[in-house]
Amino acid sequence: MKFFIDTANLAQIKEAADFGILDGVTTNPSLMAKEGIKGQDAILQHYKDICAIVDGPVSAEVISTDFKGMVEEGLKLAELHENIVVKVPMIKDGIKAIKYFSDNEIKTNCTLVFSAGQAILAAKAGATMVSPFIGRIDDGSWDGVQLIEQIVNIYNAQGFMTEVLAASIRNPLHIVRCAEVGADICTCPLSSILGLLNHPLTDIGLAKFLEDAKNL
Ligand code: E4P
Repeated sequence: MKFFIDTANLAQIKEAADFGILDGVTTNPSLMAKEGIKGQDAILQHYKDICAIVDGPVSAEVISTDFKGMVEEGLKLAELHENIVVKVPMIKDGIKAIKYFSDNEIKTNCTLVFSAGQAILAAKAGATMVSPFIGRIDDGSWDGVQLIEQIVNIYNAQGFMTEVLAASIRNPLHIVRCAEVGADICTCPLSSILGLLNHPLTDIGLAKFLEDAKNL
């Protein structure tokens, strides 16, 4: 399973890249706004800055919701760097735009996916990745990981090449469960990635080894 970081914060992206396990980045308009990035030029420059840190797919989301607008925006984003993946919302014009991008060899990430039916449509249109938001599903007391498993099974049964990108990760257990059910990619906050490190027996064991090492 590939690890993406789900942030537009350059310091966190650098930290995850330095950790040595980072395969890519996802952003969205809310994450960009959180970093205080304003205006078209600043937005485009920020994507370039991210691409300079990470050698892997970087999802950049379109803001238009009509086919023409999404295509125009997506083409501009794709021109920025070969690693840009155009992130397109799961709406009717979004599916049309994904088909257009797929026909023109531009990579896409279909976002805001909450059902298997939506994931089938995205794959039919040729999306490179599909992003089911498992944390938001769990927030409503449904089971987000169950949806990941269902989509993985459907894609395997149908031979779809679209990668299942588990998004809206809330904790390290989400990452473990997504790995278990066969997600291709997990996009996570840095805290959830680093949370995978933690186990009290590791801390206790290391403290004892270091104590005993004093007698060597
Ligand atoms: C990533 O592609 C999504 O935009 C993101 O994971 C959404 O996460 P959230 O539900 O924590 O906002």
